[in-house]
Amino acid sequence: MSFTPTSVLVTGGAGFIGSNYLLHVVRAWPETLYVNLDALTYAGNLANLASVEDAPNYRFIHGDINDAELLARLFAENAFEAVVHFAAESHVDRSILDPTAFVTTNVHGTLVLLQAARTAWDGAGTPRRFHHISTDEVFGSLGPEGVFTAETPYAPRSPYAASKASADHLVRAFGTTYHLPYVITNTSNNYGPYQFPEKLIPLVIRNAMKGEPIPVYGNGQNVRDWLYVEDHVKALDIVLRRAEEGSTWLIGADQEINNLDLVHLLLDEVDRVTGKHAGSSRALIRFVADRPGHDFRYALDSSPIEDQLGWKPEHDLNAGIRRTVAWYLDNVPWMDAVLDGAYRDYYSSQYGSRGMN
Ligand code: NAD
Ligand code: DAU
Repeated sequence: MSFTPTSVLVTGGAGFIGSNYLLHVVRAWPETLYVNLDALTYAGNLANLASVEDAPNYRFIHGDINDAELLARLFAENAFEAVVHFAAESHVDRSILDPTAFVTTNVHGTLVLLQAARTAWDGAGTPRRFHHISTDEVFGSLGPEGVFTAETPYAPRSPYAASKASADHLVRAFGTTYHLPYVITNTSNNYGPYQFPEKLIPLVIRNAMKGEPIPVYGNGQNVRDWLYVEDHVKALDIVLRRAEEGSTWLIGADQEINNLDLVHLLLDEVDRVTGKHAGSSRALIRFVADRPGHDFRYALDSSPIEDQLGWKPEHDLNAGIRRTVAWYLDNVPWMDAVLDGAYRDYYSSQYGSRGMN
């Protein structure tokens, strides 16, 4: 299967993964127009895209995926052949503080986008693709053994995971009911440049740089599989171009580590690069109250995408962490700019009750 779209709608392209995706594809595919629709919530940052903003095949539209009229106009003007749908509320802890926006954007927003694509593509004679970006969290929580596969039943446990699972179900329902040509990817924890510092890795790097306490939830033994974002976006581009309609792909890195070991790795790298005494930043670690309903472990079987589509991650965790720490140390102004007053309010409500202020 080979699909070469000439015009692609990317939602949420000013966020962490969406901007890394656009930085890759806008340069890789100069004949394809990429229209980035983003509401610029706290997580959206156009500065991430400064190096492509003047590219002739890139355009930004400030808007919400819940705006059906705007979507109808964009489809009419641009004749999109593909949608790559990143836009979402993405942080589990925020979904625990207030799930409302997660349903509004992740569930209702996805429905509005699906309706727009269905209407615009009705009777289209040439191939189309709705690529929905999802997460391993829809499958729930693993014990110490085993991996999720594409056949694992859904068992989401946080409001965020439940909203993403709902969106996945809607996408498949549109495929079954209306023959909407979709692909879904479910991915493990991403890390790398431009990640908002509410997430564990950039939060640890930032607090270490400032000499501030590092919050580790519970006993730090929860396990995640960490995928370097540049490897992820290459996988996404391959899936859009090569995957069969109606297929689902799991994308992981096979780089599992528990949170405490990961925090040690990060702090030791910050100490090494900044010339601090080896191990000194570990003294900043604080064990704080656990995340309610904290999923113990995620792991994905990525062998289908490796065997059938020929993708493999290029960075192991050590290489990815070295690049990531170097990026954040080199981009202090980016970090300072995204941490506005609203983020400080969030940080207080998330960590104040855990004795971190
Ligand atoms: P992010 O929070 O960094 O970015 C989300 C982007 O969506 C922002 O630019 C924001 O402005 C935009 N957005 C939010 N609501 C919108 C709306 N109503 N209309 C238009 N734009 C809106 O998220 P991310 O970490 O880049 O994640 C992107 C996608 O990948 C999400 O769907 C997420 O569920 C999924 N995912 C993320 C990870 C991860 O580790 N970060 C892993 C697996 C899957
Ligand atoms: O697995 C994919 C998911 O990965 C994505 O779908 C989500 O959008 C993304 O946010 C991420 O979810 P996590 O909850 O796994 O990521 P987070 O960085 O928030 O937390 C990683 C682990 O670190 C988790 O076990 C909770 C823990 N943690 C997190 C924070 C923010 C801490 O111990 N302390 C913290 O301060």
